[in-house]
Amino acid sequence: MSASTSEIKRVTTHVIQAMKNRGEKIAMLTAYDYSMARILDDAGIDILLVGDSASNVMAGYETTLPITLDHMIYHAQSVVRAVKRCMVVVDLPFGSYQSNPEVALSSAIRVMKESGAHAIKLEGGSEVEESITRILKAGIPVMGHLGLTPQSIYKFGTYTVRAKEEAEALKLQEDAKLLQDLGCFALVLEKIPANLAGIVSKSLEIPTIGIGAGPDADGQVLVTHDMLGITKDFKPRFLRRYLELYDAINDATQRYVADVKRRDFPNESEKY
Ligand code: KIV
Repeated sequence: MSASTSEIKRVTTHVIQAMKNRGEKIAMLTAYDYSMARILDDAGIDILLVGDSASNVMAGYETTLPITLDHMIYHAQSVVRAVKRCMVVVDLPFGSYQSNPEVALSSAIRVMKESGAHAIKLEGGSEVEESITRILKAGIPVMGHLGLTPQSIYKFGTYTVRAKEEAEALKLQEDAKLLQDLGCFALVLEKIPANLAGIVSKSLEIPTIGIGAGPDADGQVLVTHDMLGITKDFKPRFLRRYLELYDAINDATQRYVADVKRRDFPNESEKY
């Protein structure tokens, strides 16, 4: 998939919309650092999400709540420096947009200005309507996020499937329409019934990106560390593992340790 910089056509919000219009699925993964982002971009990923899942997989926190705006900007800067083709979307972290629209706008501006990312994502529907409107008015593309919204984990109390009951499913459909009408360019649907994701995706003009939302969303996203098997013990039904990197890295490290201990590394040809 490698191509010289001059041939590369950047993925923009228009490109993403055109993909939905012609029925091409959108592939999104998370990234938090330069080296990984470079590989994923070179492999043809359409969107890299600098997710607040960095709080879990990079920093080791149990939830996404502790990560700060400064941390997110640091991760976003590293990712932006790496990519040539894909679009970079950055999560606004918990506490950086919920209090009022001016705070939300200033957080979004910091992300765009300091990282060079192409869009922001935030969680919620009608509750964050004014913040989304304010950010969009400043010309910043916004990706919505409905269903399981991990920043509200202490309200939900569990990470199980959302919107199984009719009332919550209806609210989700209304929120999805609202986010589209406000001007969001895309929408993540996390851990909701496949049937509902299909209905929402069909009813919206903007693309939906599913995670644990079945095959009928317009695109798919996974946390890269889950998809590569770096997070060994996280095995939800929706996750497809493409590598067992935890085991591969563990094995390589054990062999390195053994080689050092038995004075096999470095050898004659590995010295100056
Ligand atoms: O933070 C994240 O990684 C996300 C994805 C799970 C969509 O929001």
